Amino acid sequence: MATNLSNSLEIPSLKISSPKERSLYFSLVIPTYNESQNIKDLVAVLTKLLDEYLPNNYELILVDDDSPDRTWEVAESLTIEYPQLQVIRRKGERGLSTAVIRGWQNADGEVLGVIDGDLQHPPERLLKLIEAVKNGADLAVASRHVDTGGVSNWNLARRFLSRGAQLLGLIILPGVIGRVTDPMSGYFVVRRGVICDRPLDPIGYKILIEVLARGSISKITEVGYVFQERQEGESKVTWKQYLEYISHLLRLRLSLGEFQRFLRFGLVGFSGVFVDMTVLYLLHDPNALGWGLTRSKFIAGEVAIINNFIWNDAWTFNDLSSKQTAWKSKLKRFAKFNLVCLIGLGLNVLLLNLFFNILHIHYQLANLLAIAIVTVWNFWINLKLSWRVTDTGQ
Ligand code: GDD
Ligand code: MN
Repeated sequence: MATNLSNSLEIPSLKISSPKERSLYFSLVIPTYNESQNIKDLVAVLTKLLDEYLPNNYELILVDDDSPDRTWEVAESLTIEYPQLQVIRRKGERGLSTAVIRGWQNADGEVLGVIDGDLQHPPERLLKLIEAVKNGADLAVASRHVDTGGVSNWNLARRFLSRGAQLLGLIILPGVIGRVTDPMSGYFVVRRGVICDRPLDPIGYKILIEVLARGSISKITEVGYVFQERQEGESKVTWKQYLEYISHLLRLRLSLGEFQRFLRFGLVGFSGVFVDMTVLYLLHDPNALGWGLTRSKFIAGEVAIINNFIWNDAWTFNDLSSKQTAWKSKLKRFAKFNLVCLIGLGLNVLLLNLFFNILHIHYQLANLLAIAIVTVWNFWINLKLSWRVTDTGQ
């Protein structure tokens, strides 16, 4: 059944309705953009697998964003031979994650899945994922980072970027990213009941992170898989997807509570940026003292840390620090804050050099980017560590 829904549906935040009257067990969404050479084989393999495993109890929903190579047309022509296949053609909309949610919105299954449309995710692993949900998992994730998992032949740069992105996620959203070994995975199956009636608002590629952050997920099972080399077409991943990933992480970070305090922490951090950059300029710029970048950065960073501690203790965390006004506990807080921020400073220097020496971004912009990322880390760790109320018996 070919459907063209995009124009009719305007939804502020995406909701997936509850499972109660669902007629099917499993709905698998296949997001596609320029995959006309891959989808025939993929649909054939998936249909063969699921006809055996879930006869007449599943559907395939291909969501294509009006691909220039007319993937949607190829897919629509397959619906005669494969009646379980449904095709959604979105016009004027792009994005892997929102395409997946559009598919789930139109799904009838009580269990929802997603698989890439280019055969890089081996279809046969799907049965293991569904089995895991049948055995009680809320979410079953295909992972490259568990036993039997891996990638075929990725070069060092791609491995570094993938793991680097994961590390960044662990810094910004430890409570979400740390729940699975492969949070970047685009191959998983989830119980509808744990994500329905919740506003899902992802950016870019990382639908799993949105599900982990917004869903009420307790039991997670991971299944190893080897990410295959692409035979046809090419990956759509560009720098844009990496920037979208960072803004997705930051948006989740801000929406998952402590927003007001984070705003204050950010403002104080901002004053620290000003102090940091002024001191960095005075020490490093050729028109000023012209000292080495790293040495100048460490001094500038330390001065900014002292500035930030004074304002955070007096304002951002005042409700906590006012419970412990003794000088001893104030010095203890400063020591913890300094330690956390020094680690942050180390991270900052690492990121600064990465952006400056590897990505050739101007040192001031590189410094700003690094500070933004480390600020979120500093906030979360300091909230948990430095201003944690220990004893009120002062
Ligand atoms: N509808 C739609 N709209 N589909 C899209 C879009 C889009 O804007 N961009 C990409 N897709 C589809 C592709 O056609 C493919 O079927 C799937 O999403 C994955 O896109 P690729 O461009 O092939 O991604 P990748 O192979 O580099 O990365 C994949 O694997 C990684 C490892 O699991 C993605 O799934 C990543 O999310 C994942 O981290
Ligand atoms: Mn791919």
